[in-house]
Amino acid sequence: MTLTIELLDKKKHNRSAFVSGNDSLDNYIRKQASQELKKKVSTVFVLIDSPNVDIIAYYTLSSYMVDVANLNEDFAKTVPRYPLLPATLLGRLAVDQTYQGKGMGELVLIDALKRVLEATSQVASLAVVVEAIDEKAVSFYQKYGFRPFLQYPLKLYLPTKLIAENFND
Ligand SMILES: CC(C)(COP(=O)(O)OP(=O)(O)OC[C@H]1O[C@@H](n2cnc3c(N)ncnc32)[C@H](O)[C@@H]1OP(=O)(O)O)[C@@H](O)C(=O)NCCC(=O)NCCS
Repeated sequence: MTLTIELLDKKKHNRSAFVSGNDSLDNYIRKQASQELKKKVSTVFVLIDSPNVDIIAYYTLSSYMVDVANLNEDFAKTVPRYPLLPATLLGRLAVDQTYQGKGMGELVLIDALKRVLEATSQVASLAVVVEAIDEKAVSFYQKYGFRPFLQYPLKLYLPTKLIAENFND
């Protein structure tokens, strides 16, 4: 058995058994994710314990724009004064209940950040943005350095520069 993170393949992965405890995140992977992947709205990566094809966790990535007015002042003053700046949205991230609290959330989050960092060598992205579903999810992301946007407490960002510094240590 090998933990593997790969693009969602509806012919291969078992989406129907995924239960994270959040209906919206569960319905997304069961019903919407494959269409969004096909239409290039989001990429959807799944964690499986290969050769088992049940989904242990998943996350999505897509392009995003951030409004510079909503960034904290200390970060905003380091970026060009364009009204909108390029970013990457980590739109959804969820771990199946059976596997929660076992490091799988951290594993997929780090994988997503590494993937964003790699992609920025081709297409620039100033930060990774996440939309937390509740206060608990906010605490999870804050543990990894994400900070809330001004006026949007459930929306957080992590500057790509900080990701690069952490992975290059
Ligand atoms: C939140 C979630 C992604 C965390 O994944 P997980 O696999 O349970 O978390 P991990 O075991 O990898 O924990 C990693 C670290 O985050 C901490 N953590 C986990 N869940 C947390 C939470 N809800 N609040 C604060 N910290 C949390 C853990 O204590 C651990 O820190 P430690 O190593 O210092 O103990 C997962 O519980 C989940 O999918 N929940 C339902 C959906 C959801 O809330 N998604 C959030 C994105 S919107």
